[in-house]
Amino acid sequence: MNQETFTLTLDGAAVTAYPGDTLWQVAKRAGETIPHLCFKDAEGYRADGNCRACMVEVQGERALVASCLREAKPGMVVHSATSERSRVAREGVLEMLAVDQPPREQSPDASSHFWAMADQLAIDVGEVSERLPKRSERTTPTVHHVAERESAVVKDRSHSAMAVNLDACIECNLCVRACREVQVNDVIGLAHRGSASKIVFDFDDPMGDSTCVACGECVQACPTGALMPATLVDEHGGGTVPRPINRSTPSAPIAASAAS
Ligand code: SF4
Ligand code: FES
Repeated sequence: MNQETFTLTLDGAAVTAYPGDTLWQVAKRAGETIPHLCFKDAEGYRADGNCRACMVEVQGERALVASCLREAKPGMVVHSATSERSRVAREGVLEMLAVDQPPREQSPDASSHFWAMADQLAIDVGEVSERLPKRSERTTPTVHHVAERESAVVKDRSHSAMAVNLDACIECNLCVRACREVQVNDVIGLAHRGSASKIVFDFDDPMGDSTCVACGECVQACPTGALMPATLVDEHGGGTVPRPINRSTPSAPIAASAAS
């Protein structure tokens, strides 16, 4: 075996890892795509570990760990697809987020990464909605449930090329990393605290008035469709293109559209 590699055990099988690999990367190489929301498997994207959709069990550790962050080590024994605790934890995260999403048929992107992950975990939103209160029915916010926002700031159509619908935002922080760390534009931020937190452009300016250069990196990173190409969203914030749509187009058309 190559001296730079080492082995660990994933779901009962010996797998090879490279120094610096995360457990998520090791699992992917072994053929398993662990559910993930706040992690984008692309060059330049730092894992943030905030959504907890990717939890796995590491033998000898009491708490589940975020596979997108945890570095693989020689001899580790990891349970992912075979871990009931991990399955329940992942489903719980997706359920709590799904109940606060716009109904899929009114979603900005019904084929988003978020819905793909919900499908992967067989989340039945109708059934979940009967158990968990919706945002409009809650009097106090919970950890994953964000408080109802002022409607004036939820949908922002001020930008010629991109549409914002914070109803679909799960505050995964990916757009912030896309803007700040990948494109080094530093236009998008996460403002306020707790249930009042939200994505903002510059000093909470309308996106169209901000210093956004319309590179489109945030749109491609957003897992839910909260940030979308403007041409793919109607005036109510819903998607105009039936599933499946391809949001992985290069960013150039967005910049060109903004310039026109
Ligand atoms: S706008 Fe999209 S990428 Fe940004 S925090 Fe919300 S869900 Fe995540
Ligand atoms: S994908 Fe790992 S914590 Fe969000």
